[in-house]
Amino acid sequence: MHDQPLDHQSLYHRAEDEPPVSNDSPNGYFGELIAALSASRTTRRRLLQAGCGTLLLLLGGGPNAAFAATSGRRTLNFPSLAAARDNAVRVADGHLLQLLYAWGDPVSDGPVFRSDAGNSAAEQAEQAGMHHDGMHFFPFSANGQPSSTHGLLCINHEYTDERLLHPDGMADWSHAKTMKSQNAHGVSVIEVELVGGAADGRWRVVRPSRYARRITARTPLRLAGPAAGAPAMRTRDDTRGQVVFGTLANCALGATPWGTYLSCEENFHGYFNGLAQPTAEQQRYGIRRGGHGARWHEHDRRFDVASEPNEANRFGWVVEIDPRQPALAPVKRTALGRFKHESATVTLAADRRVVVYMGDDEAFEYIYKYVSDDRYSAADPAGGGRLLDLGTLYVARFDADGRGRWLPLQHGRHGLDAANGFADQADVLIRARQAADRLSATKMDRPEWIAVHPQSGEVYCTLTNNHRRTVADAANPRPQNAFGHIIRWREAGGDAAAGDFAWDIFILCGDPQHADPLQRGNIRGDAFGSPDGLWFDTQGRLWIQTDAPAAAIRSGDYERLGNNQMLVADVASGEVRRFLTGPHGCEITGLTGTPDGCSLFVNIQHPGEAAGTRSDAAQAPAFSHWPANQFPDVTGGRPRSATIVIRRHDGGVVAG
Ligand code: FEO
Ligand code: CA
Ligand code: CA
Repeated sequence: MHDQPLDHQSLYHRAEDEPPVSNDSPNGYFGELIAALSASRTTRRRLLQAGCGTLLLLLGGGPNAAFAATSGRRTLNFPSLAAARDNAVRVADGHLLQLLYAWGDPVSDGPVFRSDAGNSAAEQAEQAGMHHDGMHFFPFSANGQPSSTHGLLCINHEYTDERLLHPDGMADWSHAKTMKSQNAHGVSVIEVELVGGAADGRWRVVRPSRYARRITARTPLRLAGPAAGAPAMRTRDDTRGQVVFGTLANCALGATPWGTYLSCEENFHGYFNGLAQPTAEQQRYGIRRGGHGARWHEHDRRFDVASEPNEANRFGWVVEIDPRQPALAPVKRTALGRFKHESATVTLAADRRVVVYMGDDEAFEYIYKYVSDDRYSAADPAGGGRLLDLGTLYVARFDADGRGRWLPLQHGRHGLDAANGFADQADVLIRARQAADRLSATKMDRPEWIAVHPQSGEVYCTLTNNHRRTVADAANPRPQNAFGHIIRWREAGGDAAAGDFAWDIFILCGDPQHADPLQRGNIRGDAFGSPDGLWFDTQGRLWIQTDAPAAAIRSGDYERLGNNQMLVADVASGEVRRFLTGPHGCEITGLTGTPDGCSLFVNIQHPGEAAGTRSDAAQAPAFSHWPANQFPDVTGGRPRSATIVIRRHDGGVVAG
C-alpha cells in the first residue's frame, strides 16, 4: 500500500494537502558533497557531466564486485514481458494463471460473496478480507518432506476501500459498517491443495477446513515481551495491558523456522481519530486530527484517541500467528519494537540466534533488526516464539564509506534513559522511533520489504521512493527520489547477528529515457520504479514487485513504465527481467512459492484504484472489472483484490 486507506499518497495532488513528515529529528544527513547535489547547480552539473557511472560511484552506488562475486549464479530463463497498459494480469510466455482467493470468498464453507457488496459484517468475518498483501505458504508434510501440493496460506488484508466494501459506500456511516470494515482487515489462514497432475493441476481452497481462520481488527491477541503490561499499554477494556482486540494495517510479513507467520502492522496511525491536538509523541507516529478519514472512532471508542489515548500504543507491532493451531491466540511480540512495520524477515545467526530484519515504511524512517538472546533449536520448535520476547532491537546507520553499524535500542545505553524521557525498556520499544532518533540512525527513503539471499546471507531492502527528500546522502543518493532503489548489505563475518556491515546500492530504479539523468537509474534490463515486495526463491533469484502510486502510473515520470509489475533479478549479473504485469490501478504485492518452485502465489491489490479519488460506490466497477473481466467464472460486480497462482505449462519450475 502506498500510504493510508482513504487519503493515501496517490491522492495528494497539492503539496499543502500532504500530511507533515513525522520525522523532523535532525539526524541522518551527512556528506557535504552529496548535500551539494541539491544545493548547488554547478556541482550537480559537474557530476552529471562526469557521467552516470561516476555519479553513482560518488554516491556509493553502482556495481560492487565484493557483493557480486559471491551472490547467486542462476540466470534468468524466461522471455521478458513488455510493459503493459491493459486491464489484465499478463505473465511471461509458457506460464498459466489461475485465480485462487478474492475478497469476499469464503475462508471455509462460509457465506458466498455478494457482488453488490451486500454481505453483512458477520459474513465478512468468515470471508477473505480486502486488499491482500504479504503472504506465506506453509507446506504440510508428505512422506516426511514438505509438500508442494498441500498446505496453508497465510494472507494479510491490509486495508479497506469503504466505497467498495458497502453497497452505498460511506453514506450514512454506521456501527454495522464499522464492524464490517474491521472484519475486512487482518489475516486469512486458508488450506489449499493442488488437484490434478503436474501439467494440468489446479489449486483449490479446501472447504471446509479445520485450519481455516480469519483474524480481524476485532480478534483477541495476546501481548508479549517487555511492553506487555506496561502502563502505556493499558486501556479500559484491558486494564492489565495483556490483550489487544485485533490487528490491522497488516502489510508485509515474515516466516519463522518454527513454522509460524509474522504479520506486520503498518499504517495503524490513520485509524485513530477524535483528537483536537495530538501530542508530540502521537505526531511522531503520524497520529493527527482527522486520521486518514476512517470513521471507526464514531462507533468504537478504542479508536477515539481523546477517549482511549493508550489504544494507539497497542498497534504498530509484529504479530505472530501459528497457522496450524487455529484455536491459539495470535501474539503481538513487543520486543521487535513499535513502528509502521513493513516486513519482518527472519534468518538465523551463525550461532543460531534468531535475527529479524524490519523496515519502517514512511519517508525518512529507519531500518531495524532484532537479535534474540537465546538460540533456536529445531528440537524445540514450540519454544520458538519465546525467542521473540527476549533480545536486542537495533537500528541501522549507513555511513558514507560503504560501512554501517547496528545501534542498540537498549534502555540505559546511549542516552536512552529517564533523564531523556525513556522510563524503561517498554518505553523504548513503544517509542522506538524516538529512541532511534536519539541514536542518529539514517533516515531512509521509505523502507519496504527485506529479503535474505538463501545462500550468501546478503540482505536486500526496497526503498520505494521519497519525493520529499531534498538532501541526498550516500544510502539515499537522489533528491526527489521518484523511482526508489534497492540497497543491500553484508553482515561482518557473514554473521547476521554482527554489529557492523558493508553496504552498497544494488539498483537505482528509473526510466533510462527520462529527461533528467538523475532519474534514469542504472537498471540492467527492464525498467521499473517504486520497488516494494521483495523475495528470494530457493535458487537465489530476487523477485521484485512494484507499487507506483495510482496518480503516477502511466503518466509523468512513469509514462513509459506501464502498470505495476513483477520482475526477477539475477543478483550476480544484476540483470532484471519483467515477468508479470498487473491490471489497471493495482499494486503487485505478496508472493510465496511451493518448496519445489513449481507454483507461485501472487497478490493483486486494489485493482481499479483511480488517481485522485477512491472508487465511487455509485460506480463501483467503473474503474475496473478485474478479476471478472479476465476470469469469467469469477463473481464480479466490483473490483476485488485477489491471490492468483502461476504455474508453468509443463509443470516445471516457474520462470525456470
Ligand atoms: Fe503497505 Fe509500505 O506498504
Ligand atoms: Ca508494501
Ligand atoms: Ca508501497
